[in-house]
Amino acid sequence: MSRSFVQHGRILALLVSCLLYGLVAGQTPFNVLDFVDPLIGTAAGGHVFPGATMPFGMAKPVADVLGENQGGFSTDSSAVYGFSHMHDSGTGGSPSMGNFPIWPQIGCVNDDIQRCALERNARSAVYLKDSVVSKPGYFALSLDNAMTAEMTATNRTALYRFGFPGVIPKDNTTQFDGFVYSPTYAIDLTDLPNTRKDGGAKIDFATGRITTSGTFNPSFGIGTYASYACFDFKGAKIRDAGVWKAGRAGVAPEVRVVPDGVNTNGGTGLSAGAWIRFNQTAPGPTNMTVRVGVSFISEEKACRNAETEIPDFDFAKVRRASEEAWKVKLSPISVDSFGINTDLQKSFWSGLYRNFISPQDYTGENPLWKSDEPYYDSYYCIWDSYRSMHQLITLIDPHSQTLMIRSLIDIYRHEGWLPDCRMSLCKGFTQGGSNADTLLVDSWIKGISDGVDWKTAYEAMIKDAEVEPLNWSVEGRGGLRSWKTLGYIPKDDFDPIGSGAFTRSISRTVEYAYNDYNIALMAQATGKLEDAEKYFKRSHNWKNLFKPDQNSTIRDVDTGFRGFLQPKAINGSWEYQDPIVCSHELNFDGCYLNPQGTETYEGSPWMYTFYVPGDMAELIKRLGGPDTFVRRLDFYHETQIQYIGDEQAFLLVYLYHYAGRPAMSAQRAHFYIPSFFTATNGGLPGNDDSGAMGSFVVLTMLGIFPNPGQNVYFIIPPFFPCVNITNPVSGKTATIRNINFDPAYRNIYIQSATLNGKPYTKNWITHDLFLHGGVLELTLGSRESEWGTKPEDRPPSLSTSGFVNKTMSQQAWLDELDIQNSISVEPVLA
Ligand SMILES: *[C@@H]1O[C@H](CO)[C@@H](O)[C@H](O)[C@H]1NC(C)=O
Ligand SMILES: *[C@@H]1O[C@H](CO)[C@@H](O)[C@H](O)[C@H]1NC(C)=O
Ligand SMILES: *[C@@H]1O[C@H](CO)[C@@H](O)[C@H](O)[C@H]1NC(C)=O
Ligand SMILES: *[C@@H]1O[C@H](CO)[C@@H](O)[C@H](O)[C@H]1NC(C)=O
Ligand SMILES: *[C@@H]1O[C@H](CO)[C@@H](O)[C@H](O)[C@H]1NC(C)=O
Ligand SMILES: *[C@@H]1O[C@H](CO)[C@@H](O)[C@H](O)[C@H]1NC(C)=O
Ligand SMILES: *[C@@H]1O[C@H](CO)[C@@H](O)[C@H](O)[C@H]1NC(C)=O
Ligand SMILES: *[C@@H]1O[C@H](CO)[C@@H](O)[C@H](O)[C@H]1NC(C)=O
Ligand SMILES: *[C@@H]1O[C@H](CO)[C@@H](O)[C@H](O)[C@H]1NC(C)=O
Repeated sequence: MSRSFVQHGRILALLVSCLLYGLVAGQTPFNVLDFVDPLIGTAAGGHVFPGATMPFGMAKPVADVLGENQGGFSTDSSAVYGFSHMHDSGTGGSPSMGNFPIWPQIGCVNDDIQRCALERNARSAVYLKDSVVSKPGYFALSLDNAMTAEMTATNRTALYRFGFPGVIPKDNTTQFDGFVYSPTYAIDLTDLPNTRKDGGAKIDFATGRITTSGTFNPSFGIGTYASYACFDFKGAKIRDAGVWKAGRAGVAPEVRVVPDGVNTNGGTGLSAGAWIRFNQTAPGPTNMTVRVGVSFISEEKACRNAETEIPDFDFAKVRRASEEAWKVKLSPISVDSFGINTDLQKSFWSGLYRNFISPQDYTGENPLWKSDEPYYDSYYCIWDSYRSMHQLITLIDPHSQTLMIRSLIDIYRHEGWLPDCRMSLCKGFTQGGSNADTLLVDSWIKGISDGVDWKTAYEAMIKDAEVEPLNWSVEGRGGLRSWKTLGYIPKDDFDPIGSGAFTRSISRTVEYAYNDYNIALMAQATGKLEDAEKYFKRSHNWKNLFKPDQNSTIRDVDTGFRGFLQPKAINGSWEYQDPIVCSHELNFDGCYLNPQGTETYEGSPWMYTFYVPGDMAELIKRLGGPDTFVRRLDFYHETQIQYIGDEQAFLLVYLYHYAGRPAMSAQRAHFYIPSFFTATNGGLPGNDDSGAMGSFVVLTMLGIFPNPGQNVYFIIPPFFPCVNITNPVSGKTATIRNINFDPAYRNIYIQSATLNGKPYTKNWITHDLFLHGGVLELTLGSRESEWGTKPEDRPPSLSTSGFVNKTMSQQAWLDELDIQNSISVEPVLA
């Protein structure tokens, strides 16, 4: 960006209120899709799904590679072995779904189907690096086997367009020696993680329709799920078709398989399926479209989904509809981007886009129970998404968040527990607390209400807090006996009631404590005083693992800080875990979900010691007061202890607000963005986890990061001169405008603020602004100011804000929050 351009932008930004850049500059109108790059996060462990999808869509076609393939495709240059129709995005666990990949090829050696590469291990082709095109609603690439592949999708149907060269290519390699040209497809019954239990494929020789079914494992959970697909071909004449199994291919209408391990003829046992061959109707290059309906109900339903959604095989039309859906989905936010670096804009819009990939809308596709409620799946995982991703959905798409909340409550109704993680209709693993509690309270407190049965939601949360499940690996909380009697999870817990990994005693303690805090907030506000008292009391339990004299040394040098969370035994004696374990300073990989795990999950005691989101004032006191606290937080951010690639770290960027130093939060935000979040394939610092990393970027750049489960957004200056956020339900627009904005980000410190024209000194705001609309105007400068520093201007904490012992109905509570007018709130917990 040239200097004069920057100056120009600054002057303009000063003069105008909140302009749309494209219009100002007289350029082609702003098209948000130009700024979405779905390939961000497809390398270096981001695990992002870069294929075609509708917002929250179930059909998600992409090329599946042999390498890092959690999201199906990655830009790691490994070979493609198929194109499959359902995926998850950004996940940790194993690769998810990828059932029934289809594989096109230009023919077989000697025209002999036996000599065709049908099996998973035999077929695969390298993709041409520069050929990859990934856009909202569209994915394409070319393979070195002379094929091109394009794909788009409706909600439950993938549509492919495969380009065949028309002839056997002549080149100087031997790859096509002996080939006879005849467009050929293999449809494999496998899935990405190779978990098929049984399955089958059927061919209708008259129409060429192929239907498939199979039973598979979820990628980070227990149980199995059944999946179905329906394939229809267009663009060439059917020549012949058949099936293959155990390394043999032949003409037969049907194949049925169990993984019997019989690997005669070199088969892999799991790879089996159908094949179909075509004759072109005209010579030369030709395109074929393949329509693949998917379902979790039946093959018939898969076919019906396809016929209903894409009756005409019109690729361009489906693609256009998908693009339109994405434009609408992203439209509640508009920014004045004048002078803002294009890559930064791409990180922003791509992060927003990724927030709408999952959870996936499986309404009408749930075989597990009958219900009129919506059913969403791929909460993968709430442990990651309760912190900012669902807050972003709540902000931009409250209707979808409402449906998701209803679906979570319906899962509780029918399975007895709220999930902490869920994918492919199965229970996923719980990583820490019962964080659906925090997620529910977050939505409740922000007025999410349309058709939500909050009474049952409350019941579900109380169950998490009171009743230990048999299997707390996949739901609820473990160690509840100790939780209630000792007030912490002991390292050597004796738990005869339920099963789960007896690890993570520190991180589970602080997460359970905060879950209880959120329950107490709701209990209090709805007049359940006894519950409120009980759960506020339990929310103090983090103190029981706080060891005031615990020191921390790094490579034998005392950091000087005292007071860290430490494990404790049942008998009350302290155990020891080095406060830097699970950070880049020591054994970073030592804290995953395995039986050898440590007392903190995917993070160090250093980091978890900061996790008291409900009572930061008390924590700051215990850590030696605001100055020492700020020094400690600085130390965390400036050493290798920090790791922004996992969601628990997000909140630490903003904790300065509680010490009266909102300027430092702004400074840290600019430290992490863009350095750790770039608009490149490897541009994410960790798994995107359904878009959670994206939500950190978006909410940070909007200048409003949430404290989950509370009606609190921390204010920092937006990374744009001005942002508009329009609530699509109420139609009201919230504008956040920077005065003295500087695109080089020297002026990142708020000097003063007004809210709707009145001086505003608090360093946080409530959701009210986004429900009612309004204007928050921030005047910026290049130095830290007094703004937002006073104790009364800091966000609320249990110990200082006197939240306790207020009796009021939810209506009164919402009245107090001043959000009653725009959203109708049903009376709850009568
Ligand atoms: C923001 O909203 C205001 C008021 O509705 C409008 O005048 C302005 O053009 C909008 N700016 C952008 C960037 O959308
Ligand atoms: C796709 O699903 C969304 C909800 O997830 C729904 O709003 C939309 O109407 C669906 N589109 C079509 C064409 O059915
Ligand atoms: C084929 O030719 C290309 C250039 O035309 C060359 O780069 C490549 O090395 C050749 N491959 C073989 C196997 O000879
Ligand atoms: C397809 O092509 C093959 C070989 O050219 C020919 O033998 C066969 O009759 C054709 N089949 C149909 C259905 O056109
Ligand atoms: C096949 O589709 C592509 C679009 O991807 C188009 O450019 C090409 O002209 C089509 N080829 C034929 C033979 O229709
Ligand atoms: C309990 O969860 C574990 C995973 O931690 C799983 O292996 C086991 O099958 C589950 N048991 C039941 C009864 O669901
Ligand atoms: C609420 O007030 C009562 C009476 O003043 C007191 O006994 C109780 O401890 C308070 N509850 C909490 C949670 O502080
Ligand atoms: C840190 O604490 C340990 C005991 O936990 C003690 O042995 C050590 O001397 C302390 N280090 C410093 C620098 O105080
Ligand atoms: C308490 O329990 C721990 C762990 O079992 C044990 O190592 C320690 O010696 C016990 N302490 C006392 C005082 O009994």
